[in-house]
Amino acid sequence: MIVLDKHYWENRCIENSTGWDLGHASRPIKEYIDSLINTNLKILIPGAGNSYEATYLLKLGFTNVKVLDIAKIPLQNLEDRLQDTSQIHLVQDNFFNHQGSYDLIIEQTFFCALEFRFRESYFQKASQLLNKNGRLAGVLFNFDQERTAPPYGGNKEEYNKLSSPYFKIIKMENCNNSEPSRQGKELFFKLVKR
Ligand SMILES: C[S@@+](CC[C@H](N)C(=O)[O-])C[C@H]1O[C@@H](n2cnc3c(N)ncnc32)[C@H](O)[C@@H]1O
Repeated sequence: MIVLDKHYWENRCIENSTGWDLGHASRPIKEYIDSLINTNLKILIPGAGNSYEATYLLKLGFTNVKVLDIAKIPLQNLEDRLQDTSQIHLVQDNFFNHQGSYDLIIEQTFFCALEFRFRESYFQKASQLLNKNGRLAGVLFNFDQERTAPPYGGNKEEYNKLSSPYFKIIKMENCNNSEPSRQGKELFFKLVKR
């Protein structure tokens, strides 16, 4: 069994084995961000990688964005891309140790990067980090194939079961605006903290 720790993710970056990196903000997340009205929302992007979504949020005037990753390299990449880092908080931390309070947590290819034993803890931790009526939203993979390394799949039934002690589901459906390489493989979801 591989251990998906900081060294694993740093090495994936060093080896340039970052197939998840789209090089731009993904369409479903971008369109979701476009639908948000309150630019003062406290937003966390965990397991953010190079986080083009964070740059997009900044471009739209969001003022309270935190980008969290266990690995230093993607945070450094993001910092290098930004002309002004005063509007954004970059934090190198393990999501499960992170402390804070947010209105919104954005998910994209972070959940699928976790060892299976952390799957329920992910929803529990996300709920702990959210304020009352806080939301967890984004995309989750919708495929069941067995894999020996991330990205690990899952399905609606599993996500329902894992999240329901902590969240009410507002939306969880086949994603109709996925990036071409992810078409038919994603669910778009919005959950609200119980
Ligand atoms: C598959 S990549 C996805 C990156 C980004 N979300 C994207 O879509 O491009 C998973 C990211 O999660 C980070 N990660 C893995 N485990 C983590 C943890 N426990 N806490 C914080 N970040 C973690 C990795 O360093 C990596 O950057």
